[in-house]
Amino acid sequence: MATAKSTTPTPSDSTSNRVIIFDTTLRDGEQSPGCSMNMEEKIRVAEQLDRMGVDIIEAGFPIASNGDFEAVREVARVVKNATVCGLARAGRRDIDRVAEALQTRAGRKRIHTFISTSPLHMKHKLRMEPEQVYQAVIDSVSYARNLVDDVEWSCEDGSRSEHDFLCRTVEAAIRAGAGTINIPDTVGYAEPEEFAALIRMLFNRVPNIDKAIISVHCHNDLGLAVANSLAAIGAGARQVECTINGIGERAGNAALEEIVMALRTRRDLFACDTGIQTEQIMRASRLVSSITGFNVQPNKAIVGANAFAHESGIHQDGMLKHAGTYEIMRPESVGLVRSTLVMGKHSGRHAFKSKLKELGYELADQALDDAFQRFKDLADRKKDVFDEDLIALVDDEIGSEGDRVRFVSLQITCGSEGPQTAVLRLSVDGEERSTTAHGNGPVDATFNAIKELFPHTARLRLYQVHAVTEGTDAQAEVTVRLEENGRSVNGLGAHPDTLVASARAYVNALNRLLVKRERSAPAAMSA
Ligand code: KIV
Ligand code: ZN
Repeated sequence: MATAKSTTPTPSDSTSNRVIIFDTTLRDGEQSPGCSMNMEEKIRVAEQLDRMGVDIIEAGFPIASNGDFEAVREVARVVKNATVCGLARAGRRDIDRVAEALQTRAGRKRIHTFISTSPLHMKHKLRMEPEQVYQAVIDSVSYARNLVDDVEWSCEDGSRSEHDFLCRTVEAAIRAGAGTINIPDTVGYAEPEEFAALIRMLFNRVPNIDKAIISVHCHNDLGLAVANSLAAIGAGARQVECTINGIGERAGNAALEEIVMALRTRRDLFACDTGIQTEQIMRASRLVSSITGFNVQPNKAIVGANAFAHESGIHQDGMLKHAGTYEIMRPESVGLVRSTLVMGKHSGRHAFKSKLKELGYELADQALDDAFQRFKDLADRKKDVFDEDLIALVDDEIGSEGDRVRFVSLQITCGSEGPQTAVLRLSVDGEERSTTAHGNGPVDATFNAIKELFPHTARLRLYQVHAVTEGTDAQAEVTVRLEENGRSVNGLGAHPDTLVASARAYVNALNRLLVKRERSAPAAMSA
């Protein structure tokens, strides 16, 4: 039996009022088309999830690719408090790969193994008889349990499975050693009453159910993922699987921030707590949105730009008299604090460094010098520099070490008369190159200039701009997504000049693509 220490929540927690938050942003979330993250980005997200108090971080699906394997291994190395988990199908190779990725982890670790149990999936996807699936459940859970103490088993498409078979497999998985049983609504088909009834049915019919924690994993195809998860908690589930901003396969997963804030705001109803530091929610949401390029819709619950904005006169009047008139949560409770003025152009390197530390960034000397120089330039241009400005600036700066292509300068001619022209200077492998290019607008001219200086075949898949703060002198944060041979990468750029931010974002994406190319075919590198 495994020797690894485990203090993972025990089955008795299933009768407690503690809801375990299992975050799958880095696994199911990353499966959203166009959402892939590189290793360094996954680590930043994992560190923020850990800081926020997530109980379990599902870091990836190690058998899926070497990148996923490495990401799980790195997340397992850096995460301090949360349990780190990797996903495996029911086969030994998958399970071994997770165990290998988690091998050097000093803290808590979990293997999450799954197999479909619905008639549709067993017949058409697995092409297996129910009895073969039943045996695979026992084999896979026992095998995983010999490698780690903490094993979770999921019945994929659980919500469309036959009850008798579901009860048998759940009972067998618990007997084989699974400490957590996860019931997914894989295709987002369930509705709340029905899903709660399914969970209650399991509590009533599975004889050893008290020996496991019951978890749910709901997809949002009908917009019911959060409602279904909450209904399941009402029925006794004590783990929820969710993602930041609700990203995930197709319409996404249940949004972590919505579940956590619903439990907190309606504690009178649910009488349940989580271990989440809710003040970290906005930061996690912004991080995931800027890394993935998936913008949060303005009216999105909890983290949307309008979630705490009051527009109508009647509402504003009510708010001035008593915030409770129109606000069921305080904006501060999700980390939406009025942005504090950071520093001016006279602030020193030391103050800059400690401010970054307070914001959760620790940069190496060279990166710190570069970021400080950019901060000084920004303070020269912009009257007030806020926390958000610094975060955008540092996010742009991070990870540029070793970049082959670097932005040097950009001069644009644009306006109604045209031709829109970009005079661009880049440094490529340490050698400066410049060109003048035209285009259908200044952004097109800028990107054409980049293509002239560094020819490539990647296609632009996303170009997105948002203002970091209010005001016409605000920094623009630009996301660019490039795709080449099925590989897609996002690049970020921030600058008070939207076109400079655009050029920086494109160059950032290009560098990431070069790293990907280099990893898959070292000989194919060209410029
Ligand atoms: O949606 C699903 O069923 C899953 C399982 C692997 C848990 O993601
Ligand atoms: Zn899923």
